[in-house]
Amino acid sequence: MKQTAVACSNIAFIKFFGKKDEMLRIPMNSSISMNLKNATSTTTVEFSEEVHTDSINMTDREKERIVTHLDRIRKIAKISLKAKVVTENNFPKGSGIASSASGFAALTVAATKALDLNLSEKELGMLSRVASGSACRSIPTGFVKWEKGTKNDDSYAFSLYPPSYWNLKDAVVIVDRNQKPISTSKAHGLSCTSPFLSKRFEGMDEKIKECEGALAKKDFERLGELIESEALNMHAVMMTAHPSIFYFRPGSISVMETVWKLRKEGIQAYFTLDAGPTVHVIYEGKEEDRILPVLKKLESAKEIIVSEVGEGAKIISDHLF
Ligand code: PMV
Repeated sequence: MKQTAVACSNIAFIKFFGKKDEMLRIPMNSSISMNLKNATSTTTVEFSEEVHTDSINMTDREKERIVTHLDRIRKIAKISLKAKVVTENNFPKGSGIASSASGFAALTVAATKALDLNLSEKELGMLSRVASGSACRSIPTGFVKWEKGTKNDDSYAFSLYPPSYWNLKDAVVIVDRNQKPISTSKAHGLSCTSPFLSKRFEGMDEKIKECEGALAKKDFERLGELIESEALNMHAVMMTAHPSIFYFRPGSISVMETVWKLRKEGIQAYFTLDAGPTVHVIYEGKEEDRILPVLKKLESAKEIIVSEVGEGAKIISDHLF
């Protein structure tokens, strides 16, 4: 009744922002992402009669969400056994890499396997989605689409291409380590107060199609333009919400300007940002030597984590306890 799983975090090209169903985390729009090989969560779960309350090596607020998710899994397995959970990330907290995506994907895979539930990839994704929306995109491998759907069983993620399909990289440039002013969950909720939200959704289906087309053709310029304008579109909605959600820091802007400067010099790099000040610089691996040294020289870059495209969540044999 003990299993360990590892899952990558992911960075969205087309973002999940705004929910149709708060409880089931059904998104307003489909989204597309790539898994991040060098940003993983490893989680060991053991259900046992010797454990009397769920024991989890996390803060109280995080524990609450994890216990709620364990309860969902116990309900499916029809058991009441408590669990010991130990989880580790190989990237720092507050880095702007979504630990909830990798964390809940790894927890779902480890806990369901420990209880011999043998769920399909689709079912694992749907279960992860209810814990943290973007976690469903960390279950399949490589480049992933989350089909928005309308209800629990048609809102799920699947792999578009494996990691080997395209050597894209993400240089995650951390510019501020302070806790962000508003949580991602709160930002989702506030999105409907922006007058621009309806405008954002108008172009969404077309944008998803274009992103799939750019991936199919490996058209990096088209993909890059799309992901950059998509991130700015989401942040425009955030900034115009009430109260305003403003995640950019001076360092974020300096990285964005550097990316624009690189492009003026003919170097193909594009940026995206999630709900935070960290800037993800996306480029093709072959361009790394022309991009990374420039980013490393920036005073605003507190730390840079470079990642290739990663695999889907999986069970491993080494345990954390
Ligand atoms: O899955 P959540 O609730 O952490 O929301 C993710 C929201 C964004 O990171 C801003 C976008 C995305 O699709 O990852």
